[in-house]
Amino acid sequence: MKVLVATQKPFSAAAVAGIKEIVEGAGHEFAALEKYADASELVAAVADADALIIRSDKVTPEVLDAATKLKIVVRAGAGFDNVNLEAATAHNVVVMNTPGQNSNAVAELAVAMMIYMCRNQFTPATGCEVQGKKLGIQAFGNVGRLVGKKAEALGMSVMAIDPFIPSEKIREAGAEPSESLEALYGSCDFVSIHIPATPQTIGSIGYDLITRMPKGACLVNTARKEVIDEAGLEKALEDRPDLKYISDVMPDNYEALKEKFGLRVFATPKKMGAQTAEANMNAGLAAARQIVDYFATGNTRFQVNK
Ligand code: 3PG
Repeated sequence: MKVLVATQKPFSAAAVAGIKEIVEGAGHEFAALEKYADASELVAAVADADALIIRSDKVTPEVLDAATKLKIVVRAGAGFDNVNLEAATAHNVVVMNTPGQNSNAVAELAVAMMIYMCRNQFTPATGCEVQGKKLGIQAFGNVGRLVGKKAEALGMSVMAIDPFIPSEKIREAGAEPSESLEALYGSCDFVSIHIPATPQTIGSIGYDLITRMPKGACLVNTARKEVIDEAGLEKALEDRPDLKYISDVMPDNYEALKEKFGLRVFATPKKMGAQTAEANMNAGLAAARQIVDYFATGNTRFQVNK
């Protein structure tokens, strides 16, 4: 079987070498398409691939139509909003993710972002400390839980909400469950977002929620830019000159935000939450192992289009 690693934003060389070793060690063929400039290159490269390892690369119906031999796609990471699941299912392609494998990297970035904004983006003006502040975690999955633990170690109090996790589980993990999203935003100095981008969540965080935040609060988004209603965010920052926003990946209106709000906003130019040597290795190797295992035993444990 031919396993293609297609990554516009490549893994580290060590992770690629590790993936190759696993794939070839199991008797399969390895190929890589990295830093491609146009989706047409991916469409051409998938023609003879039996398996595909991707990151945030878009697996569109066009890609799936071209991939006539494709049996499995593994998104090396958590969010799979970049894969058209309906089209994949229609083509009998199994789609998996590698949950948890890059979570620590994202959680560390979320914590770093809080401190970066407290310290006025490392400019000399008087900043603040995170110790003693309250952090609200929106979605208490692999990343959210790790952010909570790290925040606790920094002396913050932690509140969390997750529609899929019962309050007692949140409490067991050391956080105070919030009765509603409104209550979470209304009482936390920082809110860290960890929801996936789905039809239900896209554009769901806007003016109403953001303006509930207490004086001087900061919204931290290491999830997806799409979950923010950008017009609502802009108006909230306009009406509340004390609020701040930091995001791992640029909002579409970033230029306007930067111009209007200066150091109160910051966005990374390219999503970098999972961009660590460790996360590359963990997620990349897990993806390779899942493919090898799928071909050997049919294991679909991490399938997301069942
Ligand atoms: C994820 O969903 O796993 C993260 O957003 C990481 O995405 P990346 O692999 O494109 O960096």
